[in-house]
Amino acid sequence: MDYRELYKTAQQIIQNAYAPYSNFKVGAALLTKSGEVFTGVNVENSAYGATICAEQTALVKAASEGYREFDAIAVASSGGEVSPCGICRQFLFEFGDDIKVITGEDEDHIKVTQIKDLLPNGFRLK
Ligand code: THU
Repeated sequence: MDYRELYKTAQQIIQNAYAPYSNFKVGAALLTKSGEVFTGVNVENSAYGATICAEQTALVKAASEGYREFDAIAVASSGGEVSPCGICRQFLFEFGDDIKVITGEDEDHIKVTQIKDLLPNGFRLK
């Protein structure tokens, strides 16, 4: 799947976001190196700190199915262009320096960056 398609997949899943408090709906689509795609949305909670982001949902779905190698993640929102929050950057960095992060205003204006550029000197235990 190309990155434009990956971005469109992230847009399509936005409708499943559970965001009754912020009303800011986010969708993510994570592409594994072997070609599988895992989607995710933000899931908010009455205890706001228990909220999880769309990127984390996608990554947890993939990791819990045994995937560890990722090519790219696309992120889209109901509120325009969005870039992964700090915790999501760390979450992604765990699995590789060069995971591409696909963002943009729409599918015709996507931007491709690498996680190591969004999180310089990211933390790792190993
Ligand atoms: N959110 C994400 O899902 N991903 C991000 O990278 C930024 C923030 C969600 C969390 C919360 O449900 C809403 O956006 C507003 O912060």
